Order: sequence, then structure tokens, then C-alpha cells
Amino acid sequence: MDDGSAATAGRRLRDPRYDILFEPVRIGPVTARNRFYQVPHCNGGGYRDPSAAAEMRRVKSEGGWGVIFTEQVEIHHSSEITPFIELRIWDDEDLPALAKMADAMHSHGALAGIELAYSGANGPNLYTREVPLAPSHTPILTFTSDPVQARAMDKQDIRNLRHWHRLAYRRAKRAGYDILCLYGAHGFGIIQHFLSPRTNQRGDEYGGSLENRARLLRELISDARDEVGDSCAIAVRLSLDELAGDAGFSNSQLRDLVAMHADLPDLWDFAHGTWEACSGTSRFKPEAAQEDLIRGLKQLTSKPVVGVGRFTSPDQMVRQVRQGLMDFIGAARPSIADPFLPRKIDEGRIEDIRECIGCNICVTGDMTMSLSRCTQNSSFMEEWRKGWHPERIRPKQSDARVLVVGAGPAGLSAAHKLGLRGYEVALAEATAELGGRVSRESRLPGLNAWARVRDYRQGQIARMANVGVYRDSRLSADDILGFGFSHVAIATGARWRRDGVARHNLLPIAIDPAMPVFTPDDIMAGKLPAGVVAVYDDDHYYMGSVIAELLISKGCKVIFLTPSSRAAEWSFNTLEQAAIQARLLEAGADVRVTRGLASVESGAVTARCTYTGRLERLACDAVVMVTARLPEDGLYLALTERREEWAGHGIQSVKVIGDANAPAAIAWATYAGHRYAEELDAEAMGDALPFRREIARLKD
Ligand SMILES: Cc1cc2nc3c(=O)[nH]c(=O)nc-3n(C[C@H](O)[C@H](O)[C@H](O)COP(=O)(O)O)c2cc1C
Ligand code: SF4
Repeated sequence: MDDGSAATAGRRLRDPRYDILFEPVRIGPVTARNRFYQVPHCNGGGYRDPSAAAEMRRVKSEGGWGVIFTEQVEIHHSSEITPFIELRIWDDEDLPALAKMADAMHSHGALAGIELAYSGANGPNLYTREVPLAPSHTPILTFTSDPVQARAMDKQDIRNLRHWHRLAYRRAKRAGYDILCLYGAHGFGIIQHFLSPRTNQRGDEYGGSLENRARLLRELISDARDEVGDSCAIAVRLSLDELAGDAGFSNSQLRDLVAMHADLPDLWDFAHGTWEACSGTSRFKPEAAQEDLIRGLKQLTSKPVVGVGRFTSPDQMVRQVRQGLMDFIGAARPSIADPFLPRKIDEGRIEDIRECIGCNICVTGDMTMSLSRCTQNSSFMEEWRKGWHPERIRPKQSDARVLVVGAGPAGLSAAHKLGLRGYEVALAEATAELGGRVSRESRLPGLNAWARVRDYRQGQIARMANVGVYRDSRLSADDILGFGFSHVAIATGARWRRDGVARHNLLPIAIDPAMPVFTPDDIMAGKLPAGVVAVYDDDHYYMGSVIAELLISKGCKVIFLTPSSRAAEWSFNTLEQAAIQARLLEAGADVRVTRGLASVESGAVTARCTYTGRLERLACDAVVMVTARLPEDGLYLALTERREEWAGHGIQSVKVIGDANAPAAIAWATYAGHRYAEELDAEAMGDALPFRREIARLKD
């Protein structure tokens, strides 16, 4: 395979400003080669796709991370948070998969970490059907409000829990892990449930005072030392603030705990108290958002400290270390978006960093129990399944010249990867600006970071002599036939519908032409309504709420209508739904849920209750339809109609990709572009699956 990265063009010198990030750091009995610490993150693979997950971690080892962690690994069958997407260390049968992952982490010199989790009050045990155990009788606190309660643990249960941890420590060591981390952050993990007065209402020596609530933590760490001796480091991942005031495990209680147990573990890993707060999107959380909560903690201990904050800027990382906020730069999403982030800083290739955009599409894999995707790194979780790599791609198989029409996320991604393969590529864009929808959307409130999708690819392409970019070049079928390219990729994007069609209305609704109707395309083009505006969101992702925010900031009064029972329902999967609805309400939007749009009249809309069908007339001056989209596939269709002319003009293939094929989120478009480039000149696969998979081994 050809290393298409700039690394092959000659290793450049690291900027000495960043030397501090490459200092080795000791963690108990082991030493990390640098300060880059990939904190635990799930990937939708879990125990069902172990080789895919292992290969994903191998790429991070190659990319230079000092420490690489698993996702949460359930230690015992009496506690599982979801049926499929975590790893397990229930018995020896789990060890081959875990050992494969540890080997992959070690492959290029990283330390291998395993996060040991007992989900307790967060584990409904839907697969194992065991009765969940927790410090006190509590309903199961999952996202899905499962109709299950956890039973309060008695003393024997606590002894059992310690024993199960001992088994897990032994097995983790046998599987080859260097760091064992106990999980008690994000509201997940029984350690947090014991530490928090909200979930620990015990009257015995494990409840009440902070010292008592920390007893289990002390015992588990002491048992771990007993089991693994000096062979593995023992870390603990704790919540910075449960966000429930003093009723919960607050930041001040954490400070007291660390002061009381300063040198108990070999490493303290701090992460926010709810997952939504910790993995906040760029729309709601800036880089380094947890700084105030972590400041001062390192001064309470002599042990190394890890913190997180969607760190993609090396200058920001250096500041975190120099100001004594943390010893290790913890990263989940930045490591997903760019597994080679440490190596690029080391090699002085800052401009090659593919920065996370903070969209949380990666989280949606977890939330929907499917393999995770990444908007920026389309090879994420395809490293083993398809053999894709975030930096390398196989060289071109022919001297074919390729025309890519449209420089949105799909077109840019295709041109970039084709360029890496060595093809001669022309990227034609109808407008003066590259980026398509990501450029337009990045100008909407809170979506500024979307532009990184464009900026990274535009920057890479600009340095490729074999990729030509042609702006203001709206092409016709005649133009394309006349050019004589061997392959043509049509990536002309999509447009928002104006006729009310989406999920609630599969057919167009009655619209009085006297009523001004806008689409997100109009708004992004600067055409704004005024007065009272009904924003109808049957898209259910970010666009409706972002437009509502924009219109309110421009002085409109917004009635936000959605057929769903929550605003921006799908953004629950990106951990944003609650923040979006709160922002709409606080901004003064009149949020009306379970309301489909029945018709649009002059001066009013008629909404239909999705449960009762009851109609309600709402006076307004304009409507914004955030509904379905239609592919901009006119050029593609015109070319396919003239298929018999292709050969005469030297054209071997014309394909439509991304939103022009079928509109979806941006991650689907970057993936489509990457796929197009990977598959160009590849052997036809016939009926074979286009990816590898692992299927269950049958037992008697
Ligand atoms: C897709 C995804 C899965 C995650 N899964 C876990 C997990 O299994 N265990 C854990 O402790 N944290 C998990 N996290 C939280 C991260 O470890 C991290 O604390 C958080 O994302 C903030 O760091 P970042 O800004 O570098 O992403 C996950 C985060 C993401 C984005
Ligand atoms: S999916 Fe989005 S948030 Fe997640 S790593 Fe990729 S760019 Fe970052």
C-alpha cells in the first residue's frame, strides 16, 4: 500500500513548542511514551464485531497515541448496560477478542488500557435477565426508562462484587492489558452510584459520609493491587460533577475525595458527570469546556491526571499541561476523527490534522446499536471490514482521468481520496465557494465547526498537483461528454422540499400561494421571513431548531411545530435533544409537539394532533418547511439518458454519490465520496458482501 500521507514526503521536524506533549509519563509500574491518552469510547462494535474494533485501535497505535483504551467492558453477567455494543469480560471465552485488541494497541508502542465497568443502576440486563444490583433500590437509569428496578445490595452482594472484580483483574492481565481502569463517570458505573448520595441511600458503612461512600472504591483498588501486583497500573475514571448540586456527587465532593485518597490509584481520569455534558457537541460546548471543573485537582495528588475537552489544537493541549491542569491529554472524539493526531503533531504536520467537528455522529452508533460512523474520518470502523485506512489508500489501477462534479462533502471527499490514489482529478464546482452544504450550514448559529469538513479536504487537495479545482463551473451534460474524462462522479447535493412532504405527510399538502413559504435553502441564501413564523420540523435533526434560533435572533416570533413528541427528536442520538429543546424554550419559541402540518392557508397554518387528529388553526405570517429533501440529480439523469454516447466520448462510468444519490447527514456524504474513490477500478464484487463480518460460532 502506498502511504498517501505527507509523512512519506519526508518527516518534518516537530515544533519544539509541542515537545512537552511527547514527554514519557509514568503511570504506576508502566510508562506511556507520550501524553496522548485515548480515553475509553464505544464504537457500536462491541463483542459482536471484535476484529473491527481491534483494527480500529491498531490504527490509533500506528497514529502515535501513548495510551489506548477499550470501551467500557462489562465485568459480570449480572450487569450489562446494553445487550450488544459493549465488550464483556464475563469469562475466559471473552479473552481471545480482548487479547486481540490489546495486541493491536501494543502493535506500534501504545500502552493498552481496559475500562472495567459494572453498570449497576444503569444496567437493565435485557440480555442476561439477571436482577440488577445497586447501592440502593433505584429504577434503572438508562436513556430508555426500562421498566426495571435494581435491588439494593446486601453485604454478601458487595463481597460478590469484589470477587467478580478480582476475576476481571486476573483476566484483564492475562489478556495483556497494562492499565486497568475502574469506571465511575458519566452517571454510569457502580463506583459513581456508591459515591453519589442520590443513588447511595445506605445506612451501613458503605453509605452516609463521603469516607463511607468511597469505601467500595478503596476496597476495589486494594483488591486490584493484590491481584495484579506491579504488573498493571490501576486507574480510576470519576465524574467531575454529577450536575445535581450537593444532592449528587458534586465537584466539591470530588475534590474532598481526591484530597482524602490522593495517591490511591496510579492515575486519576476525570470526565464530566453526565455523558451529555462530557461529550457535548460543538453547538453547545467549546473545546476545553471542562477546564473549570478540573482546575486544581492535579494539585491534590502526586499521581498523573487525565482530562478531556474535545482537544484538537496542539497549542490548547500544551496550555493544559503547562498550566498544571492535566498530565495526559484525554481524547475520544479527536482520536476518532484523526487517529494520527499525535503523529501529525510529532511530524510537524499540523495542517494535516483532521479536526473533529463535534457533531456526535459517532455517538449515534452507540445510541442506535449500530457500528459507529465519523463525519470526518469515514474509515472509522471500516478498517477491518473494508480494509480502509484514514491516511493510506491503494494506488491507482489505471491512468484514467476522473471528473468530480460538485464540491460538497461527497465531492470533496471523493476528489481528496482519488487524489491520494494518484488519479488525475478535476473537481468542478458550480459556485465560487467549495464545501456545498457544509459551507452554507456552517454559517448557521452554532454550526461553525461544520466548516472543518471543507477546510481539511480543501487544504489537502490544494497541495495535490494531480487535483485541479474549477470554481464557478456549472456543467451541462454536453460539457461533460465533450471533456472526455474516463470516469465521472456526480455529487451535486440536494435541495429542501417546499411542499410539506416528509414523514408525517408522504404526499404534498394544500398550500395557499398567498402564504410565504421558505425552505432552509432560502434561509441559508439570506432570504428571511418576518413577523410570526411557523417553523415546521418533520426532519427531526438539527436544522429545524437551528433555523428557529436564527429567526428568533432576527426578531421573528417562532411557533415550532413538530409531529414528534420532542423537538429535534433524532438529536437524542447525538446527546443534544435536551439542550436543543431547552434552548428553544429559553429563546422564547412556542414549541408545539405532536403537531403535523395539515395545510397552509393565507395568514395561518392548520396543525393536526398526531394522536387525536384534532385540527388547530395557528395565525402566522410565514412558514419554514424543514421537511424532506430531493436529490439534485438532473445532471446525472441527463447523462444516463445519453448512455449510448459515453463510449464515443471515452467515458467508462458515471456515478451519482452523496446527497445527489439519496440525501442524508453529512457523514453519509463523506463516506460516499470515500467509497467512490476506494472502489474506482476495483474488481466487480458481484453478489459478494462489500464488507467482512464475524458471525457467531455455533455451539451444541
Ligand atoms: C462514541 C463515544 C463513546 C463513548 N464511550 C465511552 C465509554 O465506553 N466509556 C467511557 O468512560 N467514556 C465513553 N465516552 C466518553 C469519552 O471517553 C470522553 O470522556 C468524552 O467523549 C469527552 O472527550 P472528547 O471530548 O475527547 O470526546 C464515549 C464518547 C464517545 C464520543
Ligand atoms: S463523528 Fe463528529 S463528533 Fe464524532 S469524532 Fe467524528 S467529527 Fe467528531
